[in-house]
Amino acid sequence: MSASLATVSYIGATILFILSLGGLSHPETSRRGNLYGMIGMALAVLATIFGPRVTMAGVPWIIGSMLVGGSIGIYAARVVKMTQMPELVALMHSLVGLAACLVGFANYIDPAAAANLNHAEKAIHEMEIYIGILIGAVTFSGSIIAFGKLSGKIGGKPLLLPARHWMNLMGLLIVIFFGWKFLQSETVSAGMVPLIVMTVIALLFGIHMVMAIGGADMPVVVSMLNSYSGWAAAATGFMLNNDLLIVTGALVGSSGAILSYIMCRAMNRNFISVIAGGFGTGGGTPAAAPSGDAQPAGEVVPVSAAETAELLREAKNVIIVPGYGMAVAQAQHTVYEITRLLREKGVNVRFGIHPVAGRMPGHMNVLLAEAKVPYDIVMEMDELNEDFPDTDVAMVIGANDIVNPAAQDDPGSPIAGMPVLEVWKARTSIVMKRSMASGYAGVDNPLFYKENNRMLFGDAKKMLDEVFVALKT
Ligand code: TAP
Repeated sequence: MSASLATVSYIGATILFILSLGGLSHPETSRRGNLYGMIGMALAVLATIFGPRVTMAGVPWIIGSMLVGGSIGIYAARVVKMTQMPELVALMHSLVGLAACLVGFANYIDPAAAANLNHAEKAIHEMEIYIGILIGAVTFSGSIIAFGKLSGKIGGKPLLLPARHWMNLMGLLIVIFFGWKFLQSETVSAGMVPLIVMTVIALLFGIHMVMAIGGADMPVVVSMLNSYSGWAAAATGFMLNNDLLIVTGALVGSSGAILSYIMCRAMNRNFISVIAGGFGTGGGTPAAAPSGDAQPAGEVVPVSAAETAELLREAKNVIIVPGYGMAVAQAQHTVYEITRLLREKGVNVRFGIHPVAGRMPGHMNVLLAEAKVPYDIVMEMDELNEDFPDTDVAMVIGANDIVNPAAQDDPGSPIAGMPVLEVWKARTSIVMKRSMASGYAGVDNPLFYKENNRMLFGDAKKMLDEVFVALKT
């Protein structure tokens, strides 16, 4: 393939990636967006393999690696459960970071990479390598820790080391110092020492940064690491002189940054405070110890599936609030069946989606779309929070933190200030979960004890099946 054809293909792939991002911004166009992304990526890979920069001798290596990587990818995509998607995404981010590190080291060792560069170009090339490895290493170790936290292998409680901000600052100064040493190095072996020292510090920084973030703030971390993986890819693009990788990395990096901003706004958090760590912990107090007047008290009122069906049957307006438990129970299809039945009976059913419901951005939208719930009854939190006082039944399915009134009432709560769905303002709220256990943030929920709240204890899928049967009879 000639160089100009490869460039045209790269431009085509870039346009497809931009169209893909546009498509993914709405559930109705997301399939098309995905398709654009897949075609764009196929075009990019083909143009790279058959482009002028790859020799025929390298093609079998690339195809062999793609077969191995592709097979692992297909296997992982087939076996991964919907509830494990966030962990999988975190692992994938870590691979992007690792790739940036490996490409950086390979590029530095390769004598051909800087063979024809003058002094200034060589300095710029080495700076690209240094920054690329730095971002890659932070992304790699941070994503591994995020994987551990999301999969529950590492506790959600933040690790708050004494003088942690000073440690981070020290790390930054050492990285800058060794960066200067690296640029001064005359030989590859001399440059290797500062490069390795920086990599170790960056790896430790990635671990420290994500370990210090409280469970309640993990959504921001997920989207932030998404952004970092984009910048790591862009840095790799600079190292390899690959325009498409630079553009694609910048697209992922900036869209991840925008997502982090949206997540912060959704949780009423300041981005810098989240990254500095310790947020989402109620100022470092144990997450499960709510403070102040909002201490949950009183008794909970359990209901049966038959009673729930009765409440739903008599209702005119129903809002369903799905959360992580619906994903765990895979209850979305039964939710849809119940919705259909109620709508046939003339009940106005709508869904209230919190921006951080579940464990990844858009988690609930994906599940509801999979179950074929019509998009026009799936609303954002801001769109229907005002409607709860006119709602007969608010049905909470496996959600907890996103409907916790302590976020509004208890300034000492780890989730204080996070906007929540005000389900307790409905005539009756029904919370469907298996026990009194807390949610991801580890905070008790005063909603359960409210007078107008009912608890439907059990697995969401099982209980909804029973509600469905009762509704039909
Ligand atoms: P959570 O607050 O985590 O609550 C989920 C509830 O579902 C749990 O209290 C659990 O109670 C219940 N549950 C689990 N399995 C169930 C089953 N099989 N059937 C019925 N109920 C079940 O979820 P949420 O309200 O969706 O809030 C999301 C939380 O995750 C927020 O704290 C958010 O910050 C965090 N987070 C979000 C993201 C993104 S990007 N969305 C990423 C990381 C973290 P039982 O054990 O009693 O059943």
